[in-house]
Amino acid sequence: MKVPVLIVLALVGLSSAKYEGYKVYKFVTKTHLQNVYLQSLEAIPDFDFWSKINTVGNPVTVMVPPRFQTKIEDYLKLNNLEFSIEIENVGSAIHAEKHYHKSRQALGLGKITFDQYLRHAEINAYLAQLAKDYPDTVILETIGQSYEKRDMNLVRISSGPRDPPKPVIFVDAGIHAREWIAPAVALYLINQLVENPSNSNLLEAVDWIVLPSVNPDGYEFTWTGDRLWRKTRSPGTVCFGCDPNRNFGFHWMEAGASSWECSDTYAGKEAFSEVEARNLRDYLAKTANIKAYLTLHSYGQYLLYPWGYGDVLCDNWKELDDLGHKVDDAISSVNGTRYTIGSSTQVLYAAAGASDDWAMGGAGIDIVYTIELPGGGNYGFDLPASRIKGVVAETFEGFKVFADYVAKNRK
Ligand code: ARG
Ligand code: ZN
Repeated sequence: MKVPVLIVLALVGLSSAKYEGYKVYKFVTKTHLQNVYLQSLEAIPDFDFWSKINTVGNPVTVMVPPRFQTKIEDYLKLNNLEFSIEIENVGSAIHAEKHYHKSRQALGLGKITFDQYLRHAEINAYLAQLAKDYPDTVILETIGQSYEKRDMNLVRISSGPRDPPKPVIFVDAGIHAREWIAPAVALYLINQLVENPSNSNLLEAVDWIVLPSVNPDGYEFTWTGDRLWRKTRSPGTVCFGCDPNRNFGFHWMEAGASSWECSDTYAGKEAFSEVEARNLRDYLAKTANIKAYLTLHSYGQYLLYPWGYGDVLCDNWKELDDLGHKVDDAISSVNGTRYTIGSSTQVLYAAAGASDDWAMGGAGIDIVYTIELPGGGNYGFDLPASRIKGVVAETFEGFKVFADYVAKNRK
């Protein structure tokens, strides 16, 4: 009986010791065959690919435990692939991160800051405070609870006459737990729409619904257990969690998803096995007039439109491509940050069961993007807190473009 317990403990990775000696390699493949070989490694849990192997010439980042490092280095050398080591020791990088967690100031409940990342309870406290302070503008709603019974709260932000109803822009964040900058951007959007009177024009012709934390259990686990946790926290037989962005029931499991429960892209036993995905689905399905669905992730600076389940373009891809370029122009005018625009499958990789595809294919929303925000820090997902302000401010300029477009074209 002892062995399974040990295995489970090792797999859930409750401590940063798990990553002691792990290295992160970066290299660029030269041939299709090399890609095919590497793709076969993707299925092995010991190789944690932080970027997908798609097009020859795209940089690949992979985290490798000590016992496989010689093997991968030999392979890279044998194939003449120059590599660099991005992180010498992920364990000590996480140690440094733990320091941040300890030294971090507890935020007064109901307050907001963009100097540091917020815990789930702090996010919800801020939303509740806003609803109290701005009852004419902000409606707080709970769309349901996560597996571990945390409230999944959103705010609906609107002004002026509610009849006729305005088109709605729906924004969510944090479906992947480790992508901390995403909830921060959602909170800044809320903060600016509600608390900065100079943005009141953004509420004239559209309503906003913002759900800053789609995967609260995973998010909290990135604070208390494993900083790089991506999935939900529902228990399986040997491993925890399902990738909620592979769990939506539209072309489910057709590509880029795993049926192995320990995989980071585990799609679940069945579509919508995860309560978080069901809550989001139900809310999107029942809410009238949602004209745009924007889902925030990190990292990579991509504006991705459907489809992501395979190499097929959605009907209005050209419209989304043009609008994407306008958004990119607005964002880049702030700090020069540039985005790559294209369909998920074409610029990134095919991955079915994501919330964006369901928003279009299931809920019938036709302005749909996954926004991959900028990365940074030791592993890309840990953008230093000092950089939050720059990213949230530039991204906000992009939201203005979406608002203007929806107001004019989806009345
Ligand atoms: N990085 C995101 C993920 O892997 C991209 C999702 C893009 N959309 C898609 N339908 N594949 O979940
Ligand atoms: Zn993500």
